[in-house]
Amino acid sequence: MSGAFEAVKVSDHVYWVGAIDWALRDFHGYATSRGTTYNAYLILSDPVVLVDTVKAAFKDEMLARIASLVDPGSIRWIISNHAEMDHSSALPEVVARVRPEKVLASAQGRDALARHFHWDQPVEVVADGQELEVGGVHLRFIETPMLHWPDSMFTLLVEDGVLFSNDAFGMHLAGSARFIDQVPPELWRAEAAKYYANILMPLSPVVAKLLARAAELKLSPRVIAPDHGPIFRRHPENIVRLYAQWSRQEPQRKAVVVHGTMWQSTARMAWAIGEGLAAGGMEVCQMPLGAAHRSDVATELLEAGALIVGSPTINNQIFPTVADVLTYLKGLRPKNLLGAAFGSYGWSGQAVGLIEAQLREMKIDLAGEGLRLQYVPDDEGLSRCRALGERVAAAVVERLGGQA
Ligand code: FEO
Repeated sequence: MSGAFEAVKVSDHVYWVGAIDWALRDFHGYATSRGTTYNAYLILSDPVVLVDTVKAAFKDEMLARIASLVDPGSIRWIISNHAEMDHSSALPEVVARVRPEKVLASAQGRDALARHFHWDQPVEVVADGQELEVGGVHLRFIETPMLHWPDSMFTLLVEDGVLFSNDAFGMHLAGSARFIDQVPPELWRAEAAKYYANILMPLSPVVAKLLARAAELKLSPRVIAPDHGPIFRRHPENIVRLYAQWSRQEPQRKAVVVHGTMWQSTARMAWAIGEGLAAGGMEVCQMPLGAAHRSDVATELLEAGALIVGSPTINNQIFPTVADVLTYLKGLRPKNLLGAAFGSYGWSGQAVGLIEAQLREMKIDLAGEGLRLQYVPDDEGLSRCRALGERVAAAVVERLGGQA
């Protein structure tokens, strides 16, 4: 009788032996509304090689999938492409059980593993561009520092053309589909964009350099096997092309309007600003923070031309939900945006100025002076909001050279 968990064939030598985390809803601040997978891969060479492990709680699922193919004790090499815990926290237990001949990692990976696990496990360092032969197949290592941590690297199985890309080209998407061609295109594209925006957006210059280097190295993998989400077994150039596009963060005629509200006055301002933006030819994405998550705001910004932020003033400060999203976005360093601030206030009204200061810090050019309205907006106030939206729309259109 076969067990509950089985390996899935990816190529001549490679099997997926990862785990599905159906329940994950938060990945360091990013709302993973569809869960995720932790992908590990078995290379059935002689000796057997394991590429990455999984989050510790999923170790048994991974070992069961391995056992559906071979005795886990037959694993002789383990490659650790990245030390973050979602890929490495099962590693100490797997090493204790399997007793591999070698654990391989980048130099920074070796140090990061040591600092995570405080172990005496020797780790063999592989260099950027190094190639190792194992059981008649060849593994090439490509350092990809800062994708997503300083230690990160890719491993290419040369004969099968499989690129184990770790965090890059991944997405947080649990499911029974192991391959991207089994997932509706609009779903995987949306999840890949969300992942890029929330994990890789601040690293866009690094992504652009990596893509240029991959072209120089003529990597051209036939399969891209990331550590999260489905595998690109056909047309991996599709996700590479999207990464090239996202890394440029080219602004579009789209405005993201984010606001928090206490008594609906700032909300009413947001709706009126949106009317002006739409009248100016912009696609409008309203993100009221009672309903929208910070990670969805980041996703919408990936292909936007403007960020407009509204907050009431509370105890001389920005409303907490707005402060949260601004802090998060500051770290993600979105590019090529125009901005504006607005908000209702009672007597002191500092929030708009505080938002403008944060937008400037994010190197977002302000498309006009922020708009403050006292207490509840009247018709004249709402007209001024609409005018602000029209002003921002005109500025974005001018920046885009008037093109659609
Ligand atoms: Fe999926 Fe940077 O870990």
